[in-house]
Amino acid sequence: MCGIIGFTGYTEAKKVLIDGLTALEYRGYDSAGIAFYQQGSIKTIKTTGKVSILADKVAALKIPDEEGSSCGIGHTRWATHGGVTDTNAHPHTAGKVTLIHNGIIENYRELEIRLKEEGRTPVSQTDTEIAALLLDSLYEGDALKAIRQAVELIEGAYAFCIIFADQPEVIYSLRNSSPLVACHAKEGSIIASDMVALIDYSKDYFVVPEMHVVTLTKKKITLTDLDGNQVCPRMLHVNWDMTAAKKGGYPHFMLKEIHEQPDSLRNTILPRIQNKLPDFTADNIPDSLFDGITRIVITACGTAMHAGLIGRAMLEKLLRLPVTVEVASEFRYQDPIIDKNTLVITISQSGETADTLAALKLSRERGASTLSIVNVKGSSIARESDYVLYTHAGPEIAVASTKAYTAQLACLYLLAFRFGFATGKLEKEVCMDEMQQLLSIIPAVEETLAQDKVIEEISKQLTEKEDLFFIGRGLDYALSCEGSIKLKEISYIHSEAYAAGELKHGTLSLVTEGVPVVALATQQKVYSKMISNIREVKARNAFVILITIDGQEAEPSIYDYHISLPEIKDDYAPFLAAVVLQLLAYYTSLHRGLNVDQPRNLAKSVTVE
Ligand code: F6R
Repeated sequence: MCGIIGFTGYTEAKKVLIDGLTALEYRGYDSAGIAFYQQGSIKTIKTTGKVSILADKVAALKIPDEEGSSCGIGHTRWATHGGVTDTNAHPHTAGKVTLIHNGIIENYRELEIRLKEEGRTPVSQTDTEIAALLLDSLYEGDALKAIRQAVELIEGAYAFCIIFADQPEVIYSLRNSSPLVACHAKEGSIIASDMVALIDYSKDYFVVPEMHVVTLTKKKITLTDLDGNQVCPRMLHVNWDMTAAKKGGYPHFMLKEIHEQPDSLRNTILPRIQNKLPDFTADNIPDSLFDGITRIVITACGTAMHAGLIGRAMLEKLLRLPVTVEVASEFRYQDPIIDKNTLVITISQSGETADTLAALKLSRERGASTLSIVNVKGSSIARESDYVLYTHAGPEIAVASTKAYTAQLACLYLLAFRFGFATGKLEKEVCMDEMQQLLSIIPAVEETLAQDKVIEEISKQLTEKEDLFFIGRGLDYALSCEGSIKLKEISYIHSEAYAAGELKHGTLSLVTEGVPVVALATQQKVYSKMISNIREVKARNAFVILITIDGQEAEPSIYDYHISLPEIKDDYAPFLAAVVLQLLAYYTSLHRGLNVDQPRNLAKSVTVE
C-alpha cells in the first residue's frame, strides 16, 4: 500500500529515489512522484502511471550534475482516497511543507473542515494533502514541535516523510502502523517502507518504532520519542542481498519466486531440525507454549489464510485440539471467544497487513497467547506477537504470494510436529517419520517444477475462458481456494473453489460444455468419491484438468489433461499441488498478455483496512 522513500546524503538524490521507488513499486503502481531540494527551493515531479514514466519525466528535465540535488523524498501510490490523477499523486505541498504518506488518515474530513475555516483549501482529493495543510498551519520554524502537534490531531495509520522549504537537506519522518525502516550508509541516510529500497546501501537497518520521529541529515539519523527524548534504535541485519530481490534471469518475479520454493522450504525447515526432531530453541519458542491451551485460532488474510486452512488439518490431527481459521477482517469485528487458554496464530508474509495486525492486537487484549508466522523480519505483526516463527522465504516481490505460502505451510506443520511431540501426543518415532516426510517434499517440489512446460501448454487452453472451477475434497478443497485466488488475481478470469461434494447442491448448474474444472484428486482416502464428482462434471462436458499423485489410475474418459505429481503421502500433497496451481495461474496470465507481477487494483502489502 504505497511505497515511500527519503534520502539525504552525498550522492545524487534523484537516482537514489528512482531506484528505490522501482524496488518499492510492488507496493503500489497507480502513480509516482519525487520532490527534492534544488538550488534553494523544492522541486516536485509527479505523474500517473509507473515509476518508469516518472523516471522518463525526470530525465527529460536534463538537470546538469552540478545543479543536482542530494536530498529528496519519493512515493509510489496505491490509491485509497481520490482517483488516480497527477494532482492526487504524491508528494503534496502546502506552504513550506512537502510530504509523502503511506496509510489512511481516518479523520481527514473533520480536519479539512477545520482547515477550510482557516482559509486553507486542498487542491487534490487526497487525505494526504490534508496532513500537509495541517502541518503547514502548525509550523513556525520548529519542525519537531509541529509534527508533535499534528500527531495529536491526526487519527489513522500513517508513515510520513516530510521536508520543509526552509530546512534544506533534512528529512523528518514518523509512523503509526504503516511500516518504515531506516539506515545510515556511506552514501548518506535513507528511510523507506521496505528493506528492498535500502539493501543496495546497507544490510544493517532499524525498524522505526511507532510514534517516534526520525530526523535524517546526511551525517546521521536521530530518533526521538514524542516527548523529545533521544532513543537508541535497535539495529537489525538482513542476510539476503539485492540479487535475491531482483529477477535473476526470470522474466517475472512470480516465476522466480515459484522456482525458489525448494530453497525457501529448505531455509525454513532445516534450521529447525535437531536430532531428526523439530526444534524451536533458536526461535525462542518454549515447549510450555501449549501448557493449558484448549483451542487454537488461526487468523490471516488471503493466501496466508488459505495456508491456515491446510495447517488446521495437521494441527487438529496431531494435537487433538479444536482449530478454527478466521478471516482477519471479519474476526476483528466480531466478539470472538478467546481467552488465556487460546493460542492465536497469525500468518502474514509482509507482517504489516492491517486487518491481521488488528486481529492480533485484539487477541492480546483478550489474554490469548499469540504466535505469528511471518516472512518480514521485525515487521509490526512480528513485533506485536509473543512468539514468532519466521518463514525464511526471502523477499517476495510479486503481488501474488507463492513461496511464502508453501513456507507458511511448512511452519504450520513444524508447529504441529513439535507440539505434538512436546505434549506427548506424538511418539518420537512418528514425529521423526513426519519430519522425514516433510523433508521429502523438497526434492518432490523440484520434480514438480520440472513439469513447468507441460503446465504452460495446458494454460493455453484457459486464456480465452471466462469462468473456471477448482474442486477438491479435504486438503484438496483448501488448496482449491488458493488455486482460485491465484488464478483470478493475476489472470482476471472469474473462478470459484468448491468442495467437490457440494457441487450438486447448486453450483453444478454453472458447469456446461467447455467450462474448465481443475479437479484436485491427491487425497487417497477420498479418491473414489472425488472421481465420482469428476464424472459428474465430465457428464456435463466440462473441460477437466485432473491433478493426481503418481501411480493413481485415472480413466482417460474423465479428463482432458492429466498432471501427475511425485508420489507422496496425502498430508504432503498440498506442497506439490500448490506449485502446479501457481504455474497454471502464472502462464494463464502471461498468455493473456497481462502484468503478472503487478495485477490491477492490488498491492503487495495491504496496510489499509
Ligand atoms: C494473494 C496474496 C494476498 C495476501 C494477503 C495477505 O496472492 O498475496 O491474498 O496473501 O494480502 O498478505 P500478508 O501475507 O502479507 O499478510
